[in-house]
Amino acid sequence: MDFNESTTLDAVLTSFENAADDRTKQVLQAVTRHLHELVREVRPSMREWEQAIAFLTEVGNRCDDTRQEFVLLSDVLGVSMLIETMNGAPAGTEGTVLGPFHMVDSPARELGDTIDLIGGGTPCVVSGAVTDPSRTPLPGATVDVWQCNEDGFYDVQQPDTQPPGNGRGLFHTDHNGRYWFRTVVPSHYPIPTDGPVGRLLHSAGRHPNRPAHIHFIAHAPGHRSVTTHVFVADSPYVDSDAVFAVKRSLIVDFAESTDAGEAARYGVTAPFRHARFDIHLAPEGDQAP
Ligand code: BEZ
Ligand code: FE
Repeated sequence: MDFNESTTLDAVLTSFENAADDRTKQVLQAVTRHLHELVREVRPSMREWEQAIAFLTEVGNRCDDTRQEFVLLSDVLGVSMLIETMNGAPAGTEGTVLGPFHMVDSPARELGDTIDLIGGGTPCVVSGAVTDPSRTPLPGATVDVWQCNEDGFYDVQQPDTQPPGNGRGLFHTDHNGRYWFRTVVPSHYPIPTDGPVGRLLHSAGRHPNRPAHIHFIAHAPGHRSVTTHVFVADSPYVDSDAVFAVKRSLIVDFAESTDAGEAARYGVTAPFRHARFDIHLAPEGDQAP
């Protein structure tokens, strides 16, 4: 076979004709087509191609049990959000990226408990209901939450100053499908920048910051789980999230209350902030169009 610039693509596509199954063949041929198109467009030198391979090698070498640099790469290229959105349920609360900090199980907590084990930040109440898309409450649904502290660090990033489980909780909705917990308002924070993905952002002149948010995974039997965030409406970077994860429906006003009586009812001190966030879960089998 005469292997030249114009015959290369067909030769490789043909080599996958007998792949184990149709899906494998489709994926391998699509990867080949898009990769070849990329190379024909960019026309890298041999040295540039070696640099690209060195970069991906370093991304792999930075992965271990507590760090996933490939996920970070997928995040900053917007691919995580694209796949999340394509696979989301058409009805129900919108999903967003899982992120790398759900690496430990959240401790089981009672409704109304605080997930802030330290104190010091702005007191915050988060409350809402878990329902199906027609607003029928889902009692006994699980609501798994995790967040960074008021300085922008997760417990696993500061094992010397934060107790394990700080900023995390696993709740069950009550007989009306409602949940609520106490916490502190999380801060915006930078994604890890001490690896090759950080260098990529730096060389592109991009900032590494994420707007303040609380992560949620909600689950109820017979329904599709949702992995999502609540974004603090007045946080910096709400319009320029480094991982493109903000959706309008997930931005929530963490409204300030100075009402001492209301604060006492929630077991916090005024002034405090209150975020209301209802979660709607689509029935199982409800697929993206
Ligand atoms: C996070 O929100 O925890 C996160 C998401 C994507 C990349 C880095 C962090
Ligand atoms: Fe986060």
